[in-house]
Amino acid sequence: MNEIKACLFDLDGVIVDTAKYHYLAWKRLANELGFEFTEEDNERLKGVSRMKSLEILLELGEISADDSAMEAYAAKKNAWYVEYISKMDSSEILPGVLDFLRELKDNGIKISLGSVSKNAMTILNNVGIVEYFDAVIDGTKITHAKPNPEVFLKGAEELGVDPKECVVFEDAQAGIEAAINAGMYSVGIGSADILQKANTVIPGFEGMTLDKLKL
Ligand code: BG6
Ligand code: MG
Repeated sequence: MNEIKACLFDLDGVIVDTAKYHYLAWKRLANELGFEFTEEDNERLKGVSRMKSLEILLELGEISADDSAMEAYAAKKNAWYVEYISKMDSSEILPGVLDFLRELKDNGIKISLGSVSKNAMTILNNVGIVEYFDAVIDGTKITHAKPNPEVFLKGAEELGVDPKECVVFEDAQAGIEAAINAGMYSVGIGSADILQKANTVIPGFEGMTLDKLKL
């Protein structure tokens, strides 16, 4: 790949394990509506916007809803989710993340958040890592969710770095596709079976170094 000038991080499931809280909140809604929602079903929701996630969920439950019912369901899920994340602190930063962020900073590599979540700033504040980010692009700043590349292209633009010199870290299939659509190198976080389109896949940041990225 090209010289690395910036690293763009998804939030949920990459920096913190909030993917589990999204899953719990969606599962709670599904159960209340009378159907099951598995972790496998949940893979389709990762990286997807709140309303699009709800559409997928209702489709799985074969439930139809008008706009106002949709708004009410989304608000309910978000209220549960906000309750879960309000209890978060720095102990929920995933292993190895802070060391890797520090190494990037020490080497002059710019860092951006690239998340479609509207709750991203709350989480960054709760876990205390806002100061690592040179740019924060979240769901309040974009109009198109992943796999649209907007969230990553805006990050690169705000950092003043060419997309070809950016590396994206993502746990979602939709996020890897967004990175590809942005013309960026992608590192999948999780399982290679699920993140087949990523340039490379690592299980997490434990033991991750800049050198390993340059190989
Ligand atoms: C993404 C998550 O980061 O944010 C999705 O992977 C979630 O699961 C999306 O639906 C939107 O989040 P929020 O917090 O705005 O509902
Ligand atoms: Mg994610």
